[in-house]
Amino acid sequence: MRVGFSACQPAQKESTTMQLPSFSLVKWFAAAEGRFDISLSHSDCEPLCVSDVLDEDERNALINYPLGYGAFAGLEELRRAVARQYKTIERDDVLIFSGASEAIYTFMRTNLNPGDEVVVQCPIFNSLRGTAQAIGCKIVEWRPSDEMTCAFDVSVLADLCNRRTKLIIFNFPHNPSGQMVSEAELNAIVETASRCDAFVFSDEQFRLLELPTTPRLPAACDLYDKAVSVSGVSKTYGMGGLRIGWLVTRCRDVIERAQEYRYYTTEMTNTPCQMLAARALERSDEILRRNQDRIAANVERLHSFAAQHDENLLLHLPKAGTMALVEQKTPFTSTQFCERLLDEQRVFLVPGESMGISDRLLRFGLGREDFAEGLDRLNQFLRSPSQ
Ligand SMILES: Cc1ncc(COP(=O)(O)O)c(C=O)c1O
Repeated sequence: MRVGFSACQPAQKESTTMQLPSFSLVKWFAAAEGRFDISLSHSDCEPLCVSDVLDEDERNALINYPLGYGAFAGLEELRRAVARQYKTIERDDVLIFSGASEAIYTFMRTNLNPGDEVVVQCPIFNSLRGTAQAIGCKIVEWRPSDEMTCAFDVSVLADLCNRRTKLIIFNFPHNPSGQMVSEAELNAIVETASRCDAFVFSDEQFRLLELPTTPRLPAACDLYDKAVSVSGVSKTYGMGGLRIGWLVTRCRDVIERAQEYRYYTTEMTNTPCQMLAARALERSDEILRRNQDRIAANVERLHSFAAQHDENLLLHLPKAGTMALVEQKTPFTSTQFCERLLDEQRVFLVPGESMGISDRLLRFGLGREDFAEGLDRLNQFLRSPSQ
């Protein structure tokens, strides 16, 4: 019968599946896996190993470390160690996640609804925009005043916001440019958010890695009750394999919503990795100083390298973080340039196209020990007759 037939039709066309946009940056990394032995582009600092963060007694104790479930919000000692990195933050304002990535995704899923107006700094790490976009938010782009250097003008932000603005998303020190704003400019962003009663989502993955002449910005969560700061140990500490990140906010509703959502996903984060992250935070001063010194030395190296190749390369000097943009003027697009560099020299670089910026740009990562060796190979590549 007709009625019976139509009742058996599959549920109607309208899709309720969240369509996440392509993660072009990480896709570039995945496609290069196994094809390079030096990276001139990774955004993390030189990876640490277990013996860098555990002394002999701690290493011996590790064999008896309990592998049962841990606490839902995160390991007590890690939450306290994270809270100490901020001025106004207590343990209960901190939620530990499996990397900053999980913190970003969980925040967006638990605070945004289709149609919400969200102002997003662009370019930005894919998930910071892509998740809001997939939820169906109206994205208002805050673009740089200069697309090649990625310098951002905070004075235009007020015009992009209004009483419908639900959230402002940004990332300083900025991936991929290493650009910054001043403390006064950060305060202006927070004032704009506060006037609109909007949330602020500040990705601070590269905070604590300022170059010597750049003052450190306060964390957004210390400035405003509706601000969320996200960070972790992947970049600044070179411990990306632990998959430990955190979300910090004085807004307890945000913490509760995130924790409840997480009961459906990972429930909690693995405890041995949280313990290792806590040990690294205890040794913070020493680890960060080493990483800051390495980055400053690599900026110098890159600066003189670009000067030697000024017919092909123009460095846009970074202010903080682990990355810098270089404009290349060869006859090739950056995507072609990077493909050939992989094939000919087994050196990895990220082209502008995979970050949604001009494909004349290249992203350099400044945190690695073998940076000088990578530049030597890049030198051979640039001097080769096929170039
Ligand atoms: C700005 C930014 N936020 C978040 C992440 C994700 O970090 P994690 O590896 O801790 O998930 C990255 C990784 O590259 C990043 O660059």
